[in-house]
Amino acid sequence: MGLRSSCLVVVLLLAASVGAGDIVTGFCVQLLEECSADSDCQAGLYCFSCPLGFSGSRCVRSTGTDLFKLVNNSLPFNKYAFLTTHNAFAISGEPSHTDVPRVTFTNQEDNVTQQLNNGVRALMLDTYDFEGGIWLCHSDGSKCYDFTAFEPAIDTMREIETFLSANPSEIVTLILEDYVETPNGLKKLFNDSGLMKYWFPVSNMPQNGQDWPLVSDMVANNQRLIIFSSNKTKQDTEGIAYQWKYMVENQYGDDGMEEGKCFNREESAPLNDTTKSLVLVNYFSTIPIKQTACEENSGGLTSMLNTCHGAASNRWANFVAVDFYKVQVLHSVYVIAIA
Ligand SMILES: *[C@@H]1O[C@H](CO)[C@@H](O)[C@H](O)[C@H]1NC(C)=O
Ligand SMILES: *[C@@H]1O[C@H](CO)[C@@H](O)[C@H](O)[C@H]1NC(C)=O
Ligand SMILES: *[C@@H]1O[C@H](CO)[C@@H](O)[C@H](O)[C@H]1NC(C)=O
Ligand SMILES: *[C@@H]1O[C@H](CO)[C@@H](O)[C@H](O)[C@H]1NC(C)=O
Ligand SMILES: *[C@@H]1O[C@H](CO)[C@@H](O)[C@H](O)[C@H]1NC(C)=O
Repeated sequence: MGLRSSCLVVVLLLAASVGAGDIVTGFCVQLLEECSADSDCQAGLYCFSCPLGFSGSRCVRSTGTDLFKLVNNSLPFNKYAFLTTHNAFAISGEPSHTDVPRVTFTNQEDNVTQQLNNGVRALMLDTYDFEGGIWLCHSDGSKCYDFTAFEPAIDTMREIETFLSANPSEIVTLILEDYVETPNGLKKLFNDSGLMKYWFPVSNMPQNGQDWPLVSDMVANNQRLIIFSSNKTKQDTEGIAYQWKYMVENQYGDDGMEEGKCFNREESAPLNDTTKSLVLVNYFSTIPIKQTACEENSGGLTSMLNTCHGAASNRWANFVAVDFYKVQVLHSVYVIAIA
């Protein structure tokens, strides 16, 4: 039962291809003592087994490496890779906030505050009109129900506000699968949660493949919250950037996990469209299961990042979107090299 601490800063993935001027960053994982339950582990660690990653069960802590400290923050925003949680709000153990128990999948295992504290820098959130407000909900794409609702969006937005306020050098991106039809509903949400003051204006986003502003300038200007919506009309009506005007994105779910293939989801331009400055790579199965996420996302994610790099005209992913991010980091990586 010896104490073992192996911190994998994951330079290996791209070790062969990194050249001068490239940047590599990663995620650091510590494997500590063997365990049989969470209660065997110290505070802050949890008990986990991943047959492909290590033998038995061990207390695990995964901490994100702060890119802006590891490298520095003087590069354009699109020269970094950000760990991104798919359905960041669909958290195992989140109590029901409606009168009925929830009947739907979960994709993550800790709350948004913990995700951000652990190094997640982009959150994928599904927003719906519900109960007279806006809720985060795992539903059928049109309507949120009592049994699919997670929580009022304002609660999550306040967590994000607290993080941005406490971490004045960090930048957070929200990628909204947006079903809100209420005019100015999102805008009111951002205002009411105190997020407006951090909002990076759509007018400063590059339209034709240019570099984004430098992170150091974004920090200096306090424009540290980037918000994208999947609803095209809101860019004109509410100033909320239409995601696929600025970003290419591969297919999500099982169809996007076929080894050696990386192609755009329907709403996105082809990955090799370099008029969009940002690249989002999804890598998660259609039905989220923690144990299989661990296996799939060992070599599979690494391989897909490489495949998508080629498909995206030799651009690395800026956003690496996963389920159960704490599981996947066990021996995988969020890496990124920039020419
Ligand atoms: C930041 O890091 C990049 C890449 O290593 C380097 O080219 C640049 O000179 C650094 N800038 C500062 C201000 O240290
Ligand atoms: C997030 O989870 C941590 C650990 O369980 C807890 O202390 C904290 O209160 C939670 N935060 C919110 C906003 O739910
Ligand atoms: C997009 O948002 C507008 C409100 O700005 C709403 O009228 C419209 O129904 C939304 N479109 C979709 C597809 O949800
Ligand atoms: C914005 O939020 C503040 C409270 O934070 C509130 O007083 C104000 O009425 C809100 N404005 C709008 C347009 O919703
Ligand atoms: C982009 O990829 C498509 C295939 O998906 C190909 O037909 C097209 O020529 C490529 N365009 C560029 C500019 O490389």
